[in-house]
Parts: sequence; structure tokens; C-alpha cells
Amino acid sequence: MRALWPNASREQAKPCALRQVKPHITHFCCNQVIRHTPPHIMNWNSLAQFIHILAVVLWIGGIVFMDGFLAPALRRAVAQAQPRAQLLYVLFRNFFAAIWGAGAALVITGYGMVFLRGGFGALSAAQWVMVVLGSAMVLLALYIFFVPFLRMRSAVLHGDWDAACAQAGRIRLLSTVNIVLAVPTILSGVWAVFGPLF
Ligand code: HEM
Repeated sequence: MRALWPNASREQAKPCALRQVKPHITHFCCNQVIRHTPPHIMNWNSLAQFIHILAVVLWIGGIVFMDGFLAPALRRAVAQAQPRAQLLYVLFRNFFAAIWGAGAALVITGYGMVFLRGGFGALSAAQWVMVVLGSAMVLLALYIFFVPFLRMRSAVLHGDWDAACAQAGRIRLLSTVNIVLAVPTILSGVWAVFGPLF
């Protein structure tokens, strides 16, 4: 048991019921902040959470920038379907190529943290929300890649610019669903670590 609060002492820290369920977290207990975790577990947790959040920032931040700012600006600036489809295709292709690593890191650290927390049986409600919504987001991203994006690529290769632009629209729409899903997912992550907001 490690006390992080400067004035905390071992005598003041009484056993906490939460310790059984959530041994990893920092929470208020006996008027102190206590981390019920051996240091080596804490280090793996810190590393996993750091990589998890980094991956989330790259992935979700990237979609927000592309869908919210870059794609609408391209639509306004480039009226013709052909150059717009070509530009959007290169944009999506490069983004997907870069984001595979972040997505893999997100899934590995996410399920790794499930393992570090003691498996699915030890998860709190908030952690379950994270696992379910997070996995749904990853599945949706895979669908976006394997269905509309690959259809867009085939349309671009065949010079069917209108079909390519239509698939680009589907990619943007489904990515917006992922941005919306990201809000409760991030909230559940915060809730899992710090408790409910209200
Ligand atoms: C493969 C799917 C995912 C799994 C299995 C997963 C699992 C987890 C677990 C187990 C935690 C630790 C909770 C705790 O410490 O009590 C966590 C934290 C977190 N996750 Fe996920 N996650 C996934 C995807 C996502 C996605 C897609 C997002 C963002 C949209 C996200 C955002 C967060 C955030 C913000 C935290 C809080 C980290 C912290 O403050 O330390 N996760 N996740």
C-alpha cells in the first residue's frame, strides 16, 4: 500500500472496501488519497494508460481535424468531383496508414488494462462502459476502412469520381458517429478512474 498524500501515515489508512474491487486506482479513503497498488503494477498501469490516451488523442484528434475542418474546406475550395475525390482519397489513405498503429496500441493497452485490473469479472460498471463503447468504436473504424474506404479506392482506380465522392461522404458520416461515441467513452474512462462526475 502506498500513501501519496504528503501527511498520510500507515496508521491512518484503514482497509477500504474498494480495495477488493479496484486495487489499482487512486481514491479517497479515510480522508487520504491512497493508491492500493504495489509499485510494479502501478508502473504497468501508468504506461498502459499513457499509451492508451496518446493513441486516443492521435486517432480521435485526427478524425476531428479531418472531418470537422479539412474535408469541409476541401469541399468548398474544390468544386470538381475528380480533383476533390483524388485529394480526399490520398488524405484518407495516408490517415488510415498512420492510424493503424494507434488503433492497435489502443486495443492492446485497453484489453491489457482489463487484464491488469483482474479480468472481465473484476470490472466496474464504468470500465464495462469503456470496454463496450471502445470496442464498438474500433469495430466501426474497421468497417469504415474495409467497406466505404475500399469502395472509394476502387471507384478512384476506375475513374468513377462521383461514386468516390459518395463513399467519401459515407466515411465522413460514419467517422462523425465515432466522434459522438468518443464523448461517452472518454467520460466512462474518467468515471472509471475518478468516480462519477456528480
Ligand atoms: C478496445 C477498446 C477499449 C478498451 C478495452 C478500453 C479499456 C480501458 C480500460 C480498462 C481503462 C482503465 C479504466 C480504469 O483505470 O479504471 C481505460 C481508460 C481510458 N480509456 Fe479506454 N478502452 C478502449 C477504447 C477506448 C477509446 C476508443 C477511448 C476514447 C475514445 C478510450 C478512452 C479512455 C480514457 C480517456 C481512459 C481514462 C484513462 C485515465 O484517465 O487514466 N478508450 N480504457
